[in-house]
Amino acid sequence: MNQSPDQITIRQPDDWHVHLRDGDMLRSVATYTARQFARAIVMPNLSPPITGTASAVAYRDRILSAAADHADFTPLMTCYLTDSSDAEDIAQGFNSGVFTAAKLYPANATTNSAHGVTDVANIMPVLERMQKMGMPLLIHGEVTDADVDVFDREAVFIERTLSKVVQQLPELKVVFEHITTAEAVDFVNASGANVGATITPQHLHINRNAMFQGGIRPHAYCLPVAKREQHRLALRKAATSGSVKYFLGTDSAPHEIHAKESACGCAGIFNAPYALESYTTIFDEEGALDKLEGFASIHGPQFYGLPLNEGTVTLQRSKTIVPDAIEAGGTTIVPFHAGQELDWQIVG
Ligand code: NCD
Ligand code: ZN
Repeated sequence: MNQSPDQITIRQPDDWHVHLRDGDMLRSVATYTARQFARAIVMPNLSPPITGTASAVAYRDRILSAAADHADFTPLMTCYLTDSSDAEDIAQGFNSGVFTAAKLYPANATTNSAHGVTDVANIMPVLERMQKMGMPLLIHGEVTDADVDVFDREAVFIERTLSKVVQQLPELKVVFEHITTAEAVDFVNASGANVGATITPQHLHINRNAMFQGGIRPHAYCLPVAKREQHRLALRKAATSGSVKYFLGTDSAPHEIHAKESACGCAGIFNAPYALESYTTIFDEEGALDKLEGFASIHGPQFYGLPLNEGTVTLQRSKTIVPDAIEAGGTTIVPFHAGQELDWQIVG
């Protein structure tokens, strides 16, 4: 890696968690991911969700055509687990190369998760098979009980569910996705090499105050929701530590402006347009630019058992101005960092 204080060149990164949507929205947002990342783990929470190989292949084709300007972009597909997921189907999807991983949404935890899993016991045969095959399980780690405080749902999920899954299936590859708490960092650090985590740019940049700064701020709302400052600091430490357990996953989740600025606004932050600049700013602030390449470009492929990318990307210390809004197929999406400046710019 060639590194100087004002310029950094790293292997081309991958995004290990992104929502690309479908239809007009897909055509509007796919390029933002494909221009920065070589590969992306694509979330299956469409309506209806991607639960089988045929729909995954068709969706992958739509993504490839939406990102046709970036011919070398590779979407990696995931299978949405439901109470009735079949171990044999999923094994076949994995062995045929259609599915890279399977996604566990606790039922009703987030956007389009109504068909998610109501009790992990219902998918135990699937998880056992995944463990045998080395197929990663991606987990949205929040309990859904209305009586658990929304800010506690990740920590309670670790206690009630995740710790048991990892205990019962000690070899299963698990990605604890978009972690938001010090408890999650402690759990991942204490687990074996088969347990990793993704961290989003927003959870490194903002704490929960961002949602209430001078009024209600729907564009700072995503799930899992940002937590207290102590948690943000724990995440920054984990991401920049150099630990191979942590890797880049933007959780870029576009919703059109009217769906966010609403009496019941959707969860999700659209960070794809400046994701790498956003992460680089964090690593710079932490004095850890030398750890960026591991987090963005090496730990993820190593966890998944995939080759490293050959291309490179160069960032320079100069201002990137993030627009207030992005026009997308007849609608408007407000990006993360809207109207702000980031300290880094992609130059090659
Ligand atoms: C995601 C979405 O909109 O699909 N929203 C979000 O806040 N992250 C779903 C998810 O990953 O929870
Ligand atoms: Zn997500």
